Amino acid sequence: MLLKDKTIVLGVSGGIAAYKALDLTSRLIKAGAEVKVIMTRSAAEFVTPLSFQSLSKNAVASDMFEEPKVWEIRHISLAKAADVFAVVPATANIIGKIASGIADDMLSTTIMATKAPKLIAPAMNTNMFENPIVQSNINKLGSLDGYHFVMPESGRLACGDTGRGKLADIGVIFDEIMRLALRDKADLRGKKVLVSAGATSEPIDPVRFITNHSTGKMGFSIAKAAYLRGADVTLVSGRSTCEPINGIKTVNIFTAEEMHKAMTVLSKDADIIIMSAAVADFRPEFEAEHKIKKGSDEKLSLSLVRNPDILSELGRQYGGRKVIIGFAMETRALIESAMKKCAEKNADFIVANNLKTEGAGFGTDTNVASVIEKDGTVTEYPKMEKFKLANIILDKAVDILSK
Ligand code: CTP
Repeated sequence: MLLKDKTIVLGVSGGIAAYKALDLTSRLIKAGAEVKVIMTRSAAEFVTPLSFQSLSKNAVASDMFEEPKVWEIRHISLAKAADVFAVVPATANIIGKIASGIADDMLSTTIMATKAPKLIAPAMNTNMFENPIVQSNINKLGSLDGYHFVMPESGRLACGDTGRGKLADIGVIFDEIMRLALRDKADLRGKKVLVSAGATSEPIDPVRFITNHSTGKMGFSIAKAAYLRGADVTLVSGRSTCEPINGIKTVNIFTAEEMHKAMTVLSKDADIIIMSAAVADFRPEFEAEHKIKKGSDEKLSLSLVRNPDILSELGRQYGGRKVIIGFAMETRALIESAMKKCAEKNADFIVANNLKTEGAGFGTDTNVASVIEKDGTVTEYPKMEKFKLANIILDKAVDILSK
């Protein structure tokens, strides 16, 4: 319930994407927020206010049903109540009104009266979106304090055209609202967090490579949690099944050596370094220039050579000066191995999990982890969502930073 005690005022303007704001309302409610919806007259032509009312359990403010006298008073209380004011979807019309200071209905009046951060997610026909007037309105608002945009995606639009203008993914919009709503709790604001995630892959020939089962879910959860807590996050990712995270710089790499290079450069600026990637310890000594043919051989041996140990190197270089966090995935002697790794790699702590424990494997949304600190303290955690564990890891990192 990350959004408990937060009020999100959601302005819905009239476009075909208005129905997607229902999904957003439901996600905000599930995260514990109080959601107050304001619909424009044309939005109410696309989706009924009753749908928003049922999901939000709050009356919907709409010009359809209220005399100007009523909304002229109500808009002030809604404007004050907002922790975040979101306009999803935002039409060219509402963006134009906001940018020009026109307040002639419930939504435009309330948004003008609010001091809350404003999140605008445009959705419209490509030609409208690319219209220089719309672009100039967006640029004008984007340059002002307190206005944030989640830009539309490219795709097939309801009008049949293909191009930019499709409402951004609701998950991305939700994350951005969450980040703005939690800004006063943003204990990582001003901090640079570097996270590695996913699996490295080590080429054998142009067709084949050696890799592992990592999906990157743990590392991506950490990156996202750090971003929501206000950090400037860079993610160095190997093979992963996760979607890129809006607002996070992501460097995609393939091999351990590429990850090593990227981490070496990026770690210089980082305050917190988290190595959650599953890095291959060995790589084929030679990558064949052409596809290896099986011929008549019954056996094939691969000669492997050691990859650099990235965590050890960063620990040696920055241990005690930056927060260094490692992971350990084991199938036996979890705590002993993790303790050894923590000491040898000079990490502040190691997050260890046993692959054989139910709910702790590759690709799951949960983890069952123990945290082993350099002073030998061991804390065992029950099965939980990776995102929750990510926040526990970051709590510890913040704690160490403050010392
Ligand atoms: N790690 C690393 N570079 C490597 C191997 C591992 O930075 N070449 C990091 C991992 O990202 C993880 C930690 O070291 O944070 C422990 O990784 P793990 O694979 O569990 O341990 P290893 O050090 O490889 O030791 P072993 O394979 O013997 O268990």
